[in-house]
Amino acid sequence: MKKIVDLIIEELTPAFEACGYDRQYIRVTRSNRPDLCEFQCNGAMAAAKAYKKKPIEIAGEVTERAKGSRMFSEISAALPGFINIRLDPDYLAEYTGAVAGDGKYGLETAAQPETIIVDYGGANVAKPLHVGHLRSAVIGESMKRIGRYMGHHVIGDVHLGDWGLQMGLIIEELRDRQPELPYFDESFEGEFPQEAPFTISELEEIYPAASEKSKKDEAFRERAQQATLKLQSGYPPFRAIWEHIMSVSLADLKKNYANLNVSFDLWKGESDAQSYIPGLIADLVDKGLAYESEGALVVDIAKEGDAKEYPPCIVRKSDGAALYATSDLATLIEREKDFKPDRYIYVVDKRQELHFIQVFRAAKKAGIVKEETPMAFLGFGTMNSKDGGPFKTRDGGVMRLETLINEIVKAVYKKIEEKQKVPENERQRTAQIIGLAALKYGDLSNQATKDYVFDIDRFISFEGNTGPHIQYTIVRIKSILEKYGAGEDAEMMRILPAGSATEKELQLKLCGFSEAVESAFIETAPHKICQYMAAVADAFNDFYQENKILAEEDKKRQAGWIRLITLAKDILNTCMDLLGMDSPEHM
Ligand code: ARG
Repeated sequence: MKKIVDLIIEELTPAFEACGYDRQYIRVTRSNRPDLCEFQCNGAMAAAKAYKKKPIEIAGEVTERAKGSRMFSEISAALPGFINIRLDPDYLAEYTGAVAGDGKYGLETAAQPETIIVDYGGANVAKPLHVGHLRSAVIGESMKRIGRYMGHHVIGDVHLGDWGLQMGLIIEELRDRQPELPYFDESFEGEFPQEAPFTISELEEIYPAASEKSKKDEAFRERAQQATLKLQSGYPPFRAIWEHIMSVSLADLKKNYANLNVSFDLWKGESDAQSYIPGLIADLVDKGLAYESEGALVVDIAKEGDAKEYPPCIVRKSDGAALYATSDLATLIEREKDFKPDRYIYVVDKRQELHFIQVFRAAKKAGIVKEETPMAFLGFGTMNSKDGGPFKTRDGGVMRLETLINEIVKAVYKKIEEKQKVPENERQRTAQIIGLAALKYGDLSNQATKDYVFDIDRFISFEGNTGPHIQYTIVRIKSILEKYGAGEDAEMMRILPAGSATEKELQLKLCGFSEAVESAFIETAPHKICQYMAAVADAFNDFYQENKILAEEDKKRQAGWIRLITLAKDILNTCMDLLGMDSPEHM
């Protein structure tokens, strides 16, 4: 289905042209002044310059011409040159009916589906998932789902940090604790044990201990660095330990991501890119792109016209080691070979922006990725605590994601226990669904680049701009539908021309689903879907306050309302799903 704003443009086109103005100037947006109009056409302003006329004159002429249209109940020119529009209620009801009957609520899927890689999650193996990784997981999962809903072939890759110094630290700490293990016996020739020499909880204690030790103990740090290099050059005993670290840690990571309702198609990591590095370096040198600078190998990425100075991208350190950028470039070689993506979206902390500018530019310069392939960096801000600083545990440590989720679920549980609306056997599950939505909505409702404050009381509130508020609205609609006994036949009911301002407002909002999803996708901005959901929920609640749906005596009118609120519920549920949230049965 065409978007309603596009249909308005089409309707205005003959009027513009009949007055002698080019259609390219027509712009139509939803109005942010509902007291004045529902839609606004700004075409006259743009045309005024080209035709050297006053915008109001153009707006006046076009308005006169368009007056007979059955699409508009009102069209008028306003200073300095706006064209204000209200839709005819019959037309709007028809369009809303079509939205309700459409499998995607009016959204047209991509005419040319793209293959898109979303790089998100970014957990580091052997380190517990902490709140710093929350945003990447939550935002990335939404972008993946939105892209798929748009009809694209989206591949989510967790891109694990599985090849760094943490591995050497664990290996050497293990040596200090259990020197008798065969991995440390140079003369050992048998098969290494199948079973890992540690459990996940031991591993989670080993890494921080080793990391602490390396800060104080220079020799230990040196050993860890050597062990890392040895692992990276393929030394079998260390490779065997690495496999254990991977399997133990991965099982735990998968469980944690699943709890977040986040899933990946690819569980690749930096280690998978390593085999491409020698070829990458040789190619960069052959093409004359990489050169030696203070012993390191670098690629210039600055461009003429840059507003800032961009340092070159270092692809090899003076000691021969590969770097983060090298891994990311090598990963791109693998992705191009395996998937030939039409687009990339990286969802990473915005403090890594320079790194990605360097990697993207170097990749295009080297011809690894085509010049015209869009590479988006969706950089997000920090989640802060109420006192201003980055989010920490009470004793100042890094908060584990699991702990954070448990805290929020516990708080929700307490609340639903007090309210007594949820049957006892549903409470735990309901608290989880609400808690997760509270957390995710609290994050996603902010523009990703901005920092935000984690405020548990606000996030779990059933009122205001929160996830639970949206869920509460959905639950409320479900309960009306249940009482009405609509069942399947709601599909057969017809949405009627709105009889009140609040009813019309709800119809207008429900017709905006495709606009919201499209702009969230194009602008890589999931918060647009939160904004849209909040607007739909508000419109529903206003409508509900004013109209006693269940007591309505005009049965046709009542059926139309049931159809309308069924659509509101379906659209809200779809939006929730696009953001990786669910809604409970009761709350
Ligand atoms: N593991 C990294 C970190 O914790 C994030 C990885 C982001 N993705 C990438 N392709 N570099 O900072």
